[in-house]
Amino acid sequence: MIAIGADHGGYKLKELIKGYLDKNSVEYIDVGTFSEDSIDYPQIAMDVANRVSIGDCEKGILCCGTGVGMSIVANKIKGIRAALVGDCFTAKATREHNDSNVLCLGGRVIGEELALMIVDIWLSTEFIGKHHVNRLNQIKEIEEKFK
Ligand code: RB5
Repeated sequence: MIAIGADHGGYKLKELIKGYLDKNSVEYIDVGTFSEDSIDYPQIAMDVANRVSIGDCEKGILCCGTGVGMSIVANKIKGIRAALVGDCFTAKATREHNDSNVLCLGGRVIGEELALMIVDIWLSTEFIGKHHVNRLNQIKEIEEKFK
């Protein structure tokens, strides 16, 4: 199950991604927003990230104007490794190396086709483990130290 959310800056992109998820029979829960009316992104980011953090959802996708605000908020939630992605190489690498569990996208930054390619790659790429596990453990230690 994927949790997906957006503010007004990412609303159109969220709807586009939902079309992709529907077409590929990927289950998701849409936490909003449901129009292009202005809405603050922190609550949406927290909702999606929390669902991933507590294990209700396997991964999350967040869209705002730049993807930056969403990624800042999501990365404050325990266990969240949110990646702001704008290219296909990073989409693959951040799954393989960082085991990123939330994907952030900028609806005012990237084109539709690129965004869908990024989503496709990110959802289908597995974490490769090995020495990267040690690095993720170090992230956990830092998270514990500053909680
Ligand atoms: C909203 O205008 C915009 O600030 C927001 O979508 C996002 O880009 C924040 O990082």
